[in-house]
Amino acid sequence: MNVLVTGGAGYIGSHTCVELLDSGYGVVVIDNLCNANPLSLERVEALTGKKVTFYEGDVRDEALLRKIFAENDISCVIHFAGLKAVGESVAKPWEYYDNNLNTTLVLTKVMKEVGMKNIIFSSSATVYSADNEMPLKEESRTGGCTNPYGWTKYMTEQILSGISHADPDWSVVLLRYFNPIGAHKSGLMGEDPRGIPNNLMPYITQVAIGRREKLSIYGNDYPTHDGTGVRDYIHVVDLAKGHVAAVKYATGNKGTEVFNLGTGIGYSVLDMVNTFMEVNHVEVPYQIVGRRAGDIAACYADPTKSRDVLGWTAQETLADMCRDSWNWQSKNPQGYGE
Ligand code: NAD
Ligand code: UFG
Repeated sequence: MNVLVTGGAGYIGSHTCVELLDSGYGVVVIDNLCNANPLSLERVEALTGKKVTFYEGDVRDEALLRKIFAENDISCVIHFAGLKAVGESVAKPWEYYDNNLNTTLVLTKVMKEVGMKNIIFSSSATVYSADNEMPLKEESRTGGCTNPYGWTKYMTEQILSGISHADPDWSVVLLRYFNPIGAHKSGLMGEDPRGIPNNLMPYITQVAIGRREKLSIYGNDYPTHDGTGVRDYIHVVDLAKGHVAAVKYATGNKGTEVFNLGTGIGYSVLDMVNTFMEVNHVEVPYQIVGRRAGDIAACYADPTKSRDVLGWTAQETLADMCRDSWNWQSKNPQGYGE
């Protein structure tokens, strides 16, 4: 069975390609490489000993999508392709709405034409309203997003649910990721952000390798166990395995289902920094600065539904995630740019 992976050369997509190939699926990737290096797919092939069919191009290119569906017998689509930087989305809203919404609209238009109606979408914990109690359940309140990126995830969920509501032949799986970190155990694949990292773990690894002077911790006056922000960090390989479980589900069921992909455990920024230093025997100089606009105190999942329905649970510990992130960064100081 072949799976079309949009954005498959990116961070989560490339790790998912490995897990799909290792589970016996064929993998077809479309990626325009706007935020990825094609070396990631070479590494996928090296690690699995299997071939990836790669189309370099944009998911908004309807003709290219028709060609891909004509040339490959696809049974399911995992739709990762999109822009993901929260701050950039505030500065470039049109680009975010265009890319993140039109990829979905064009993709589902062509899927409908060819009669292949199974889709898994990369949503985010960002769709949950800030006023929910923790842990977040799939039925917790959504909306009230604070930036265009968040709205594109919210709107895409609405678009896909609406499509499947109107035509019961569709299978739509909305996966709400919490905070993916870590890297493949081989150290051959990992996160390679362009420019200054926005997210905590790539910032920590770049400080540890000497590319940045020190980490700024955004606030230590939150109502959390040590005052710093708490998040549900999930190993990218666990997340990738969640997608394999979702493909099995999507190809055997109809309708729309939402799943949280998180561990259910919240760790603070200081927990992260201290664990990273301890397991890797490396220093991460830091300073406490003011809160970052838009941040919330704590965000973590209730992953019960994913366990019960998908049969999936995250396995890797915070120490594993810190070790694997450092293994990748220390073996590839400049990411794929080496
Ligand atoms: P990424 O940037 O590494 O991967 C996205 C990939 O999509 C890149 O390879 C990029 O080149 C490609 N792409 C973007 N627009 C495209 C287009 N129009 N046509 C073809 N290819 C295109 O990001 P990631 O961290 O792997 O995230 C994958 C998905 O998961 C994204 O949709 C993201 O919003 C979502 N997500 C990520 C996180 C996270 O923290 N990393 C959290 C929640 C949700
Ligand atoms: N943090 C720092 N210093 C940094 C970076 C982050 O102290 O240099 C802190 C943040 O304040 C927060 C925690 O580390 O408390 C995690 O921050 P990230 O930026 O890594 O992650 P967020 O939870 O803020 O954002 C992530 C994704 C977004 C998504 C959001 C909600 O990056 O795409 O989760 O799901 F919208």
